[in-house]
Amino acid sequence: MQELFRIENLCMAFGEKEVLRNINLTIRRGEIFALIGPSGAGKTTLLRILNLFEKPTRGNLKFNGLANEGEINNIRRRMSLLFQTPAIFKASVFDNVAYGLRVRGIDKMTIENKVKSALNIVGLEGKEAQKARTLSAGEAQRMAFARAIVYDPELLLLDEPTANLDPANVAKIEEVIKRIRSERGTTIVIATHNIPQVRRIADRVGILLNGELIEVNTKEGIFMAPEDARSEAFLKGEMIY
Ligand SMILES: Nc1ncnc2c1ncn2[C@@H]1O[C@H](COP(=O)(O)OP(=O)(O)OP(=O)(O)O)[C@@H](O)[C@H]1O
Ligand SMILES: [Mg+2]
Repeated sequence: MQELFRIENLCMAFGEKEVLRNINLTIRRGEIFALIGPSGAGKTTLLRILNLFEKPTRGNLKFNGLANEGEINNIRRRMSLLFQTPAIFKASVFDNVAYGLRVRGIDKMTIENKVKSALNIVGLEGKEAQKARTLSAGEAQRMAFARAIVYDPELLLLDEPTANLDPANVAKIEEVIKRIRSERGTTIVIATHNIPQVRRIADRVGILLNGELIEVNTKEGIFMAPEDARSEAFLKGEMIY
């Protein structure tokens, strides 16, 4: 399978604190890659670095063969990060979703079509005019999802997109994740605490422990024959942290 993003020898420290240690990882085009690990392991930090929000202390990032140095804007336009707690602008659902297209200077007609299509994918069609702040939590998260996919990113980075949702909304978001991958070929990296979710949607899995990527494996591999004893303990919920 073709590689989309390659991360080599990546390290990240905040002051004296080392948060990510020597991460080597290749994200393949079109896959759903789940990033799991205990709270504080470094998942969000890694996603922010992948999204080029944060510059690592050390290491190389290559998106589609482009090195991060000098190509930041070009690369950032092709990916999207959905935050753990997405910001909701005090505006209509339509305007919230259209934001990323407007800043790209796209024409009005195209914006309308793309917003409509994104809202349709997340099951919020007909809610265009509603004030975004009046949406339920599940709807708000789906709106944020629409905003993240509205400009057709090649890579979608999701930071615990279902953490605070009820099972019905979790199922809806998982449907959306699978659908945009199959309909648009979008590559997805999802940080999650939800192990059953990993079983439901992931192709491959990476386990972060204390800033170290201890194992990267297929979903089948990681659940049936993990290579690292700590992976097994974490997946069984036996890890004390
Ligand atoms: N800007 C920062 N300055 C200092 N320390 C930070 C900063 N951002 C993150 N950290 C630290 O880095 C470590 C990893 O944090 P991170 O948010 O990446 O973990 P996580 O795996 O996403 O956890 P969770 O599952 O709780 O979201 C934590 O110890 C956190 O306190
Ligand atoms: Mg996090």
